[in-house]
Amino acid sequence: MRSIRQIKNLKGKKVLVRVDFNVPIKNGRILDDFRIKKALPTIKFLEKKGAKIILITHLGKNGNESLAPIIKRFFEISKCSKSQVSFFDNIRKFTGEAKNDLNFAKKLSVLGDVYVNDAFSVSHRAHASIVGLPKYLPGYAGFQLEEEIKNLSKTIKNIKHPFLFIAGGVKFSTKIPLIQKYLKLADYVFIGGSLLNIFLKAKGYEVGRSFLENINYNFKKILKNKKLILPEDVVVKSGNKLINKKINQIKKDEIILDVGNKSVKSLTQLIKKSKLILWNGPLGKYEDGGARATKKVLKMVSKSKAQSIIGGGDIVYFVSLMKMEKKFSFVSTGGGATLDFLANGTLPGIKALK
Ligand code: 3PG
Repeated sequence: MRSIRQIKNLKGKKVLVRVDFNVPIKNGRILDDFRIKKALPTIKFLEKKGAKIILITHLGKNGNESLAPIIKRFFEISKCSKSQVSFFDNIRKFTGEAKNDLNFAKKLSVLGDVYVNDAFSVSHRAHASIVGLPKYLPGYAGFQLEEEIKNLSKTIKNIKHPFLFIAGGVKFSTKIPLIQKYLKLADYVFIGGSLLNIFLKAKGYEVGRSFLENINYNFKKILKNKKLILPEDVVVKSGNKLINKKINQIKKDEIILDVGNKSVKSLTQLIKKSKLILWNGPLGKYEDGGARATKKVLKMVSKSKAQSIIGGGDIVYFVSLMKMEKKFSFVSTGGGATLDFLANGTLPGIKALK
């Protein structure tokens, strides 16, 4: 991969920079701007060299969200000049993006002279702005992308055991092939977050009104895997109350919000004996009051001597909230991308730059 340091004569050059400013937002308020901050060294570098920078990002799944809060925050914290840095529209608004339509990529490429990928966390998606654009423009890696690859590669070269993988959050379809891989690579795979609801349902438990993604997956084999660890208890929302209960006691009108106390204790034991901990996605529905397990477990991981890699937009929100950025071996901007990179050693967006 060529680095942005290798771009010649940046003065006046139009640089299309793919960033990932898909940050957690609640009621229009940005909860965490870690991903924005992580892209600043690249943007500042290009700005200093006199380039004209066009930032391309997605926000949300389908491009319906306005970039306004992101743009506002970006200029507040970066102090970049608006005459040098501008934003393209939410890229997922365009159907050509997710389809990796090369005609769309070609049209987009006309806006710039060179292309920079500084969006590690979405580089697992073969989308037009990730793999299409570098077909039409000379492509370079930004500092954030390089930093992620450098740090995560160290882990791949020396996978330590016992290796505990904690999978939480949402996006079952993206994560299930990776969970399958980690059932081979790791020694324990603990499931939390909304992923858990799907596993519990597949096991035949009542999950009440808990959030379930639309999926089509055959669970037969995976449920027999001894490395797969499902919590034995959960916290449910029952009316206005939060109740800790066993997974076989959930009622039809209840909503699973978090992993229960006993399961957090069992997970703590696993953390104590592990030498490598990889964690992606919160353990509970933190937006609705299910943040307790995630906070407790984060503290435990931060105290452990194991090598610890924490990744994903939502979990990073907790890391910042609890001011724990320095307590882990590496805090990755990526969620699915980090898991994918660690399992496969590369990503479509990285290959596209070669
Ligand atoms: C993420 O939040 O993991 C990245 O921004 C990718 O988002 P996506 O899962 O919607 O592609």
